[in-house]
Amino acid sequence: MIVGVLKEARAGEHRVSATPATIEPIRKLGYDVVVDSGAGVAAGFTDSAYEAAGARIGDATAADVVLGVNAPSPAQLDGVRPEATVIALFAPAFDPEMVEELGRRPFTALSMDAVPRISRAQSMDVLSSMANIAGYRAVVEAAHTFGRFFTGQVTAAGKVPPAKVLVAGAGVAGLAAIGAAGSLGAIVRATDPRPEVADQVRSLGGEYLSIESAEVEVSKTGYAKEMGDDYKAREVELYSTQCREADIVITTALIPGRPAPTLITAEMVASMKPGSVIVDMAAANGGNVVGTVKGEKVVTDNGVTIIGYTDLAGRLPAQASQLYGTNLVNLLKLMTPGKDATLVLDWDDPVQRSITVVREGESAWPPPPVQVSAAPAPAAKVAETKPSPVKEPMPAKRKFGGVAVGALALFLAAGFAPAALLPHVTVFVLAIVIGYYVIGHVHHALHTPLMSVTNAISGIIVVGALLQIGHSSITVTVLSAVAILLASINVFGGFAVTRRMLAMFNRS
Ligand code: NAI
Repeated sequence: MIVGVLKEARAGEHRVSATPATIEPIRKLGYDVVVDSGAGVAAGFTDSAYEAAGARIGDATAADVVLGVNAPSPAQLDGVRPEATVIALFAPAFDPEMVEELGRRPFTALSMDAVPRISRAQSMDVLSSMANIAGYRAVVEAAHTFGRFFTGQVTAAGKVPPAKVLVAGAGVAGLAAIGAAGSLGAIVRATDPRPEVADQVRSLGGEYLSIESAEVEVSKTGYAKEMGDDYKAREVELYSTQCREADIVITTALIPGRPAPTLITAEMVASMKPGSVIVDMAAANGGNVVGTVKGEKVVTDNGVTIIGYTDLAGRLPAQASQLYGTNLVNLLKLMTPGKDATLVLDWDDPVQRSITVVREGESAWPPPPVQVSAAPAPAAKVAETKPSPVKEPMPAKRKFGGVAVGALALFLAAGFAPAALLPHVTVFVLAIVIGYYVIGHVHHALHTPLMSVTNAISGIIVVGALLQIGHSSITVTVLSAVAILLASINVFGGFAVTRRMLAMFNRS
């Protein structure tokens, strides 16, 4: 069979469904690959790069398996052979006309945006891979429009306060935005009706703003449900306060199968500072912000820019194409069990069933619902923190007061405690101070490797046990040997874990 890579017909689309790097794994499955001339140019991939990877330049619509990013144009669909399979983002859930159009065609159509969000299908989940890129790009767009530092600075020429970023909705796109804005140095706060995301927000350095309502509960499906009036009223309160303070607002709220909820009202936009920026990532689904214009950047009367771009992932076309292409390779692997260039549609596989819009000319939409993985039970009830004003550094008076109280306590302890205890108390106090500053300055994500490397402190036990192992008592000798063994496991195991974890941060 031949796999064809289409040149995207949609104006302004820069992505392509296969890159030179994804040609090789497709060929390993036995397929020949044909690429439309110029298909990858907008993403930075020349025809000769595809040829060097083993593909042929030709007519992709005539292939047995036709790959695209967006739905092919009617002219392209006319060229597809009746027994072929077309795989693209058809958005059947939002585009009934497209479902009808495909239903009139004799071929099989699979829609990548219908991959169920279950663990087994993660490697094919294009919505996640694109939302991840889009969340990052939303921050880049916001930073560019904002035109000021995100990070706070204290320079000889004066102080620059850090930008305050509010992210509404901490799904894939929201978490990517939190990470990107935090890494630029902004103060990032985020909210979401699913309390289980609180830890994820914090692990990316953001502050989770919980909304205290009886309606808030851990999601069973991993998605939010439509919230009731009580939650909505409290949500309005939170956004009204936060919008007045925020420099950047990024909204990503989405409830599957429904139009995006309105979170930011016209009054909230009007209360924002001139020069502030809103990126409404849900623009394509109706928008979370009153005043968003789909696909456009608009400036309000009070100088707030609202960005409603719907092609954020496509604005990083090379990487978006690479990730989308890899998602397609993973689907082809699943559907080519014999690695023999034969595409097999397994109707009993929930992933393949879910993405089938049309099977050999027969409409298969909508598919039966798939039970998505239940969210893990929360380890502990999420701390209910009221939205608080942005954390300012501790005032000098309070800081010096604290130091004075601590010094007095130490002085009293030194005066009244037995002399032998004093060195221990001093070491203990110094350890607390040093530990506080060392750990406080290590990024959250590195706390686990830090803990495992500090296992090396068990080396003290090894030294103590070595000194005791020659003791005349057999019990002491045995205990020393056990201590050496256990402490060594702790030390070397700690280093092994640290090594593995640090390797995860290695960009090469
Ligand atoms: P997702 O479904 O993983 O996340 C949506 C999040 O919104 C969930 O965490 C949900 O709990 C939360 N949410 C629901 N109701 C809320 C409320 N009232 N307040 C706050 N949060 C609420 O979706 P994903 O993949 O993260 O995408 C987010 C949005 O970004 C979607 O609308 C998607 O279509 C859009 N998107 C936009 C792109 C663009 O180019 N503009 C590209 C990719 C995605």
